[in-house]
Amino acid sequence: MILKNFIVFEGIDGAGTSTQINILKQRKEAGGFFFTAEPSGSQTGKFLRSMLKGELELDPRTSAYLFAADRAEHLWGADSENCGIEKKCLEGKTVVSDRYLFSSLTYQSVTCGEELPRLLNSTFPLPQLLFFFKINPETSLKRVDGRGEREIYEKIEFLKAAEERYEKLMDEYDAKKTGMKIIRLDAEKPREELAAEIWNEISNEVLQKS
Ligand code: TMP
Repeated sequence: MILKNFIVFEGIDGAGTSTQINILKQRKEAGGFFFTAEPSGSQTGKFLRSMLKGELELDPRTSAYLFAADRAEHLWGADSENCGIEKKCLEGKTVVSDRYLFSSLTYQSVTCGEELPRLLNSTFPLPQLLFFFKINPETSLKRVDGRGEREIYEKIEFLKAAEERYEKLMDEYDAKKTGMKIIRLDAEKPREELAAEIWNEISNEVLQKS
């Protein structure tokens, strides 16, 4: 199922999704949008943030369950400041999320195999528009190092495996013809150029069709 008005940004760490979301936030035409991210601001999301910093160790399968549980709350939870994406979209609001289930289908499939993340994420709706930020993992890790401390998945071998899975996943979803539009971006382009491409797609694909 496609959730109309829902836009997702995906890519490995350091690909620049958060930078582009920040640029988008500055646009006056995006003043009524709801901007959010996963892990979400729910209690489960906060717990996952400390796991990502390495403050607590979890079995990779437990992390897969928690990312899915956080996603359920993010979609359906009553806390409208951090969650309730589905209701907002159904009411006609444009929602932009930095990461969604495709992060679980890549990162958690690297840590615990493909089957469990696919099972846990099989009931969630797909976004109307998905931006995939394609980048060389060496470049992205340099960007991560330029901004401070690394989180648990921010290692070159891990990011290489994640990038490879993301690219396969995008091809797989294209072939499935789900109705979700996938835009592949060259994340190494100048940020203003990317911002213009992104705005062009959002205004043509989401705002014109709502
Ligand atoms: P970010 O806030 O910089 O995007 O970092 C979030 C980290 O969490 C990033 O390394 C990807 C990881 N992650 C997963 O492993 N699975 C998920 O389902 C999500 C949403 C994020």
